[in-house]
Amino acid sequence: MTNTTDSQRVETLRWRGDSLEMIDQRILPMRFEYLHYTNADEVAEGIRSMVVRGAPAIGCAAAYGVALQALAYQHKEKTVFDAAMQHGYEVLAASRPTAVNLFWALQRMKHFHNAQSGLAPLELAAALLTLAHEISAEDVRINRAMGDHGAALLKDGARVLTHCNAGALATAGHGTALGVIRSAVEAGKRISVFADETRPFLQGARLTAWEMVQENIPVTLITDNMAGHLMKCGEIDAVIVGTDRVAANGDVANKIGTYMVAVLAQRHNIPFYVACPLSTIDMQLPHGDAIPIEERSHDEVTGFGTQRWAPLGVQVRNPAFDVTPAELVSALVTEKGVIHRPDLAQLAQLMRQS
Ligand code: MRU
Repeated sequence: MTNTTDSQRVETLRWRGDSLEMIDQRILPMRFEYLHYTNADEVAEGIRSMVVRGAPAIGCAAAYGVALQALAYQHKEKTVFDAAMQHGYEVLAASRPTAVNLFWALQRMKHFHNAQSGLAPLELAAALLTLAHEISAEDVRINRAMGDHGAALLKDGARVLTHCNAGALATAGHGTALGVIRSAVEAGKRISVFADETRPFLQGARLTAWEMVQENIPVTLITDNMAGHLMKCGEIDAVIVGTDRVAANGDVANKIGTYMVAVLAQRHNIPFYVACPLSTIDMQLPHGDAIPIEERSHDEVTGFGTQRWAPLGVQVRNPAFDVTPAELVSALVTEKGVIHRPDLAQLAQLMRQS
């Protein structure tokens, strides 16, 4: 992998001739750099190490990972090609467990791959790349549609709290939760954003704050433990977050700390909205307790980067996500429209229509 420096344009993933480049989100906003990827192993490592993160962006990266693997082996014999592809699917599927978009994208690639398995590796690789491009372009269209539907929920002048980063950096563009905010601003509404810092990986402080500053959308950074105080003081009008997986009953997994925000929002009668493409809804899982919650390295909690602040020998937990029960969700914003008080019946109907 090599580094390339670029301007401050948010193009989370970009195709460059015969390889993929992804913004290195671990070092934003201090540095803006793209890393270069040429096969499935490299992309899987990029997902695992959080070069790319955010459910839809992970899905797009995985789709490109499959295409890259095909391109890397397109000149080999069919048996070698097939074995490499099998490895590619497996290594990508093992990269992160919670965001269902990863598995959704891999399944879509695999399904197409199986249907086209009569093609020679060279042709199949080209066709898989076309599909990866389509998954990425579709993600932007979906986020725009979600933005249009969700913008109506935010009043002119609304002060909106968000947790983690569900912006352009978490998708192929525009964002889910931040996409709704962007679309409301584009519609002429004066929206101001409160960004939870989002310990331990600081997606709010580093990524959401950066995206909003880039676009001159007023943003105020707070630490996670300030949200309750601001709600009590009447300074928050709505909460909107993204999600990594929605269970069939409407329970929502998102970045650790989201559940705490949802409980606080209910206590203060503040609407709690979740922006969610249909690819994030997992009808296979009956409820949120069945969603696998990733546990990440203790180093993320005991310090940041090279800085360590916790004593050696301390025990640490680092669940990266939590589950907010459906009863705390005021509405799900999807590309097909807004679902108030989501439940099994409504989600089943929505997925049947899609
Ligand atoms: O660990 P991350 O940074 O991948 O977690 C991301 C989130 O929790 C986002 O809120 C979620 O993926 C929705 S992104 C549109």
